Amino acid sequence: MKVTPTSNSRISDIDFSNLQFGRIFSDHMLEMTYKDGTWSEPDIKPYGPITVEPSLHALHYGQAIFEGMKAYYAGPGTINLFRLDDHHERLNNSAKRLCMPELSSDNFIRGLEELIKLDHQWVPKTFGHALYLRPFMFASEHYIAAKASSEYKFFIITSPVAAYYSEGFNPVKLTTSEKFVRAVRGGTGEAKAAGNYAGSFLPARDARENGFTQVLWLDALEQKYVEEVGTMNIFFLIDDKLVTPKLAGTVLPGITRRSVTALAKEWGTDVEERRISIDEIFEAHNNGSLKEVFGAGTAAVISPVGLIHHKGETITLNQNEIGPFAKKMFDRLTGIQYGKTEDTFDWTHPVHVGNEITV
Ligand code: COI
Repeated sequence: MKVTPTSNSRISDIDFSNLQFGRIFSDHMLEMTYKDGTWSEPDIKPYGPITVEPSLHALHYGQAIFEGMKAYYAGPGTINLFRLDDHHERLNNSAKRLCMPELSSDNFIRGLEELIKLDHQWVPKTFGHALYLRPFMFASEHYIAAKASSEYKFFIITSPVAAYYSEGFNPVKLTTSEKFVRAVRGGTGEAKAAGNYAGSFLPARDARENGFTQVLWLDALEQKYVEEVGTMNIFFLIDDKLVTPKLAGTVLPGITRRSVTALAKEWGTDVEERRISIDEIFEAHNNGSLKEVFGAGTAAVISPVGLIHHKGETITLNQNEIGPFAKKMFDRLTGIQYGKTEDTFDWTHPVHVGNEITV
């Protein structure tokens, strides 16, 4: 692996007490190139512009995928990465679906470790903040024919972040959409494909203009069953059961989703991964059995949901605060990620960076 450290760090310009999500990027990035059937060695270099031609394949056909991960400050000298193998596996699953080349686990893991070692001072020390890691791959051939590119670029860029939703622990407000759908069986919904997000921006803007935070997506065929929120997976605590839509090709297999189900099972909570209709949720609310609703994602962490709107009807719950189950989940999950509680699942991957973290 080639590593070229910057001679001009920007870290002293950063106001770590005022971080927004995804606005600033740390000093270095990792780059790999796929050409003639093989990936180049990772090249870590100063973060900066890349040169592409207007004929760049990804710009025309959307052959682009990404991952979302975080590096957590776990005390002097230790930065925790989380469920690296799962993120690597999902990246490769997305690559397969989008007809892109897979990446070796060694390059992915060693590349991330080296990047973190170099930019460890960019990992915020405040609990709840983290260094967001954005591995992404795109078709880099300069060729405007609608078939898979034969050349690709893979990058990892990193960004110190605070909470994704400005609401923080204030519950988010969701609405279903009668007009739009996110994914259909056999499509790309379970891949972390850039285009899945592009297609959600118009409905998300409509939702925001009507006072909601995000869209709660329903299945594309019947518009009856809940799927996900696009920025996070969704969980319903009904009586004492935790219910989440099952993965059947249209829902992103969230790593936080998988962690939440594992932690809930560890506590002895019944977890049901199944189809759940929006009508069932409204009924459960009306008969008092819907205790909590929350979203889960790397960026969103555990985000309480305080309102769901569907076809002119609205239910509200946990209006001003996070519910006790979601709070317990947040505490346990972030406890593991930030190295505050025992990682009984072996999910964390510590990167040791010496004791010189001073930011
Ligand atoms: C993540 O949670 O990491 C994602 O990629 C979601 C994105 C909306 C920020």
